[in-house]
Amino acid sequence: MTWTVVAVEGELGVGQMKRIAPAGKPLLLVNAEGGYFCVDEMCSHEDYSLWFGCVKGRSIKCSLHGSYFDLASGKPLNEPADCPLTTYPTKLEAGDIWVDVS
Ligand code: FES
Repeated sequence: MTWTVVAVEGELGVGQMKRIAPAGKPLLLVNAEGGYFCVDEMCSHEDYSLWFGCVKGRSIKCSLHGSYFDLASGKPLNEPADCPLTTYPTKLEAGDIWVDVS
């Protein structure tokens, strides 16, 4: 396991996201419905940044073609995307938000 601190508690409101790059991987940390999730920054459909999308419930929407992805599983919820995003474990510990990128 390779846990890395990527944010501090309270930094992101619910529905907000942050670009992070632990170990050089471009990822998004998302605070959705009170939980922290970490997924690939780039959409699995056409390599477009999900940073330009929006968070809805526990999903993130790609603004290019409109696919939603479940933030917990990474699975696309509608077409055109048909491949999941990679997800990474997160934890909140002593006021820090950690992501495991191993
Ligand atoms: S690039 Fe994201 S749905 Fe097409």
